[in-house]
This record gives sequence, structure tokens and C-alpha cells, in this order.
Amino acid sequence: MSSLGFGQSGSTVVPSTALRESAFLKACRREPVPHTPVWFMRQAGRSLPEFLEVRRGIAMLDSCMMPELVTEITLQPVRRHGVDAAVYYSDIVVPLKAIGVDLDIKPGVGPVVARPIRSREDLAQLRDLQPEDVPYVTEAIRMLVGELGATPLIGFAGAPFTLASYLVEGGPSRNHEHTKAMMYGDPELWTALLDRLAVIASAFLKVQIEAGASAVQLFDSWVGALKPADYRRLVMPASAKVFDSVAGYGVPRIHFGVGTGELLGLMGEAGADVVGVDWRVPLDEAARRVGPGKALQGNLDPAVLFAPREAVRAQTDEVLAAASGLEGHVFNLGHGVLPNTDPEALTALVEYVHERTAR
Ligand code: CP3
Repeated sequence: MSSLGFGQSGSTVVPSTALRESAFLKACRREPVPHTPVWFMRQAGRSLPEFLEVRRGIAMLDSCMMPELVTEITLQPVRRHGVDAAVYYSDIVVPLKAIGVDLDIKPGVGPVVARPIRSREDLAQLRDLQPEDVPYVTEAIRMLVGELGATPLIGFAGAPFTLASYLVEGGPSRNHEHTKAMMYGDPELWTALLDRLAVIASAFLKVQIEAGASAVQLFDSWVGALKPADYRRLVMPASAKVFDSVAGYGVPRIHFGVGTGELLGLMGEAGADVVGVDWRVPLDEAARRVGPGKALQGNLDPAVLFAPREAVRAQTDEVLAAASGLEGHVFNLGHGVLPNTDPEALTALVEYVHERTAR
């Protein structure tokens, strides 16, 4: 039986016209849209009571390997908020776990790695990822695209720098000191590490696209810790390799990081079709830094959602005004939904953006 949104032809997933013409994919392609599309990084999970309910007693990484649960959690924010895209429920460390890296996600902390990577010998922990390592990803995404119909599904991977930071530090880090020690002290080892991570991230994205994801985002959450010259020389080649590896699929590629005001031009150059912007740089200025030929995604400060409704609207108006001259705009927060965000504030925000931008 053919799915609601996709027909299968051989091994290629052919998106339906309604899906291809969705506001989100049009905005990514910088085509005119009926309204500015909205989705939220970290929209699945966090404060949703229906998420806490289905996740009760199930560890984060275990939940990522349960296709029916993944499907349910991914759909929850689409049902509740009416967002214009779903984001696949998983984590940036799932492909590392899948190739046997000894790691866990500690609630309230983040990924923790048992044996941090600090030497050439440690690199042996990182073999290539095969589709057979993540059968639950293919299964969940096939189920999801059937359920989602004309709503696009965004797949994602962690970018080489951000993955390297967790692997080298052994966990979350404020200053990335071990990471930078390797980057500056042993650039050859660093480059070899980033290269391996680029291959793994590419493979993880390909699995998602081949199963039916209609866009992908590369999360380089912590790359704002670098100055431009180092980014260009020591990180950008690896990220560019990831973007290149999926260019042939023709799905929009989004590149996101936090604190990246000084890196926006280079992040666009790395090969993305859409550049994510945090809340620190207004979108009109971000567009100048990124240059023509790219859509932008962002950029309401997630903390604004804790303010009264009128203040949220005023801040949203500012974002929309700065975005009014862009070639393409996908509305999002400048980083992920914060824990304890009132879900009703998110629903109201989606409605407000749709209303204000209806054409
Ligand atoms: O966006 C979504 O809703 C889809 C799911 C998603 C998760 N992680 C689920 C998750 C996505 C896209 C991610 C990406 C991710 N993971 C990033 C990049 C995005 C960003 O926020 O910058 C990073 C840096 C990670 C690593 C990671 N995993 C962190 C920092 C944490 C938070 C730790 C905490 O508890 O605050 C996680 C855990 C995690 N990933 C949770 C969820 C729903 C919470 C853990 C749980 O529910 O037990």
C-alpha cells in the first residue's frame, strides 16, 4: 500500500506534490510561500506532558531505538502545535552508540563518553557506520513519512566539531579545553578525527534521506567557540564533506550553530542551502554576512517564551520585520526549546507567525 505522502519507486522515495510544495520546503528553496513556515529545534520531548507520559521508565538512548515510540514522539509536536515540519526524534550521539562507542545520555547533563578520544589509538573506537547498524532509524522514518503525509520530516546529524567535542572532552564542556588542545597541538590527529566523524555523519544522514527524510540539518551547536580562521582551516573542510556527500539527493541542507555571528559566512560556504542563526544577530544583518543564494532559519531567543504573551508577540514582530527582505525564511528559535517552556506558548507562537505572515 502506498503511504499518504510518498510513493515508493524502486529504492528511491518519491515525495508527493503536496509535500514538495509545503511551505517549509518552498522557503528552503527560496520560493514564495503562503505563510512563513515554523518548526522548533528540540520541539519533541522537553516539556510536553504526552512525551513524559510515553517516555516514563525508558532511557533516552533506548527510546531512540524503538521505532514505534520514535514515531509517536516525533508526531506529538506536529499534532499539538501545528508546526510546518517534524524533526526526527533521536540524538546526535545515536550513530556513535550504534558503532559501539561506550556512551550514555545522562538526564539533565547530556552525552557522557566512557573512554574519551585523546590519542591515535583511541580513534579505533570510530569505525564506519553501515545502514545495518541503525535498522531502527530506517524503520521509524518509513513509518513517519507515511503518517506525516504532506508535512516534511527533517533528519539530522551532529557536525564533526560538536561530536568531536563530546568525544574528546568525555562529556559536555564549557571551554572545550581538551578539544582545543588536540586541535592546536596535534592538527594531524584532529583532522583524522574530524574526517572519521564526517564519514559517520554523512552515512547517518544518507540513511535518513533514503528512508524518506525531506530535509537535513547539521547541528554544530558548539562551534561558536572558535574564531573564523580556525573554523576555516580546521573544521569547515569536514563539515563541507558532509554537505557534499548528500548534495546529490537534492534535499535542503540546513547548517546550525550557536554563537556563530562571526562564522555565518563560512557556515554558508561550507555548503548549506539554509543557514541557522541564533538570536544574537538580526536576520537582515545575518543575510548580509551569509550572502545571496541561501535561506535563513531562526531566530527568536528561546528564553523570550517565558515572558508574557504580548512581549513574545513584540519580539516575534522584530524577528519577522528583520526577515521581511530575505530570499527565504524558516521561523525557528535561535536554539532549542528550553526545558519548562509552557507548551501553550509554543502553540500560540506558531499561530501568531502564521497569522502575521499569511499572504
Ligand atoms: O529536536 C528534537 O526535538 C529532536 C530530537 C533531538 C534530541 N537531541 C533529543 C534529546 C535533537 C535534534 C537533538 C540534538 C542534540 N543532542 C544536540 C544539538 C541540538 C542542540 O540543542 O544544540 C545536542 C548538542 C545534543 C546532545 C544532547 N543530548 C544534550 C545537550 C542533551 C540534553 C541533556 C539534558 O537532559 O538537558 C541531550 C539529551 C536529549 N536529546 C534529550 C532529548 C529529548 C533529553 C534527555 C531525556 O529525555 O532523557
